[in-house]
Amino acid sequence: MDPGNEILRVEQLKKYFRTPRGMLHAVDDVSFSIDEGKTLGVVGESGCGKTTLGRAILRLHEPTSGAVMFNGENILNYSAGKMKAMRKDMQIIFQDPFASLNPNMTVSQAIAEPLLIQGLYRRGSQEINRRIHQMMDMVGLASRLINTYPHELDGGRRQRIGIARALVLNPKFIVCDEPVSALDISIQAQILNLMQDLQQQLKLTYLFITHNLSVVKHLSDDIIVMYLGQLVEKAPARRLFQNPLHPYTRALLSAIPVPDPDYRMERILLEGELTSPISPKPGCRFARRCVCAVPACFEENIRLKEVEPGHFVSCHLA
Ligand SMILES: Nc1ncnc2c1ncn2[C@@H]1O[C@H](COP(=O)(O)OP(=O)(O)OP(=O)(O)O)[C@@H](O)[C@H]1O
Ligand SMILES: [Mg+2]
Repeated sequence: MDPGNEILRVEQLKKYFRTPRGMLHAVDDVSFSIDEGKTLGVVGESGCGKTTLGRAILRLHEPTSGAVMFNGENILNYSAGKMKAMRKDMQIIFQDPFASLNPNMTVSQAIAEPLLIQGLYRRGSQEINRRIHQMMDMVGLASRLINTYPHELDGGRRQRIGIARALVLNPKFIVCDEPVSALDISIQAQILNLMQDLQQQLKLTYLFITHNLSVVKHLSDDIIVMYLGQLVEKAPARRLFQNPLHPYTRALLSAIPVPDPDYRMERILLEGELTSPISPKPGCRFARRCVCAVPACFEENIRLKEVEPGHFVSCHLA
């Protein structure tokens, strides 16, 4: 196997939220790595911790414990000053560009903001104007739009601003949190193509979070499947679709509305009680909904194990 060039390694990452009803285990002991220039897809149903994982990696939510090794250094040990400099390398593209953009900022101001915060250019200088035009061109925004406001633009153009803001500092790693799910279907493909072109051009590494399994299959090198804060399966994208091993992954893939040539199966409906992410009990979190569960599943915690090269699963029965 190609050893690859690892850029990010997440080790036993936890993010718990204190809630009135107890500790909510939003991300619970998640480990994986990504090689430079690759895309790791993150899937799992609503509330399983995808956004929290992405934000914890960037320290937008301060992790409870674990390590985030970026180019070999644990950024969780970085001071605020060092972390600010680090932001140049690690960025995020949000789901809803309308909510994430300041309505009072023009396209030009929105793209300039990260550069000004980092103190890289002077406001109004020729250099910053050149950089803004360059970014607009890179993400496919016509230069006549430079002084428009977000509300004057459609969803696709707004997301192009979001992408330009994320890329203007020349980052290496981007968390893409459902970057197209708020967009019209007709525009989704354009934005996904743009993101793929930019990845090639700029050698970007993506953590790509989505509900859309067809999208994730198309874009990802590897995929991780999350269930209630935990990683239940990880595999090369094609392999996951050909040979899903965790009962949860099988149920998730069976719900794809469009028939997939790699994966034909009867729809598996998930029944049974959802385990609470608040102070969860030991054992597999999926056990209560799992058709294959045996008594051990309710008692013993399970570790992710490698069942074939690059294919990991956390299930007693795999
Ligand atoms: N700031 C917060 N305070 C308390 N609980 C939170 C907070 N943010 C998220 N959670 C909880 O953490 C869990 C994971 O949420 P998260 O938003 O990461 O899920 P998600 O997989 O991104 O879901 P979706 O697909 O709906 O975006 C949920 O139970 C959520 O209610
Ligand atoms: Mg989310």
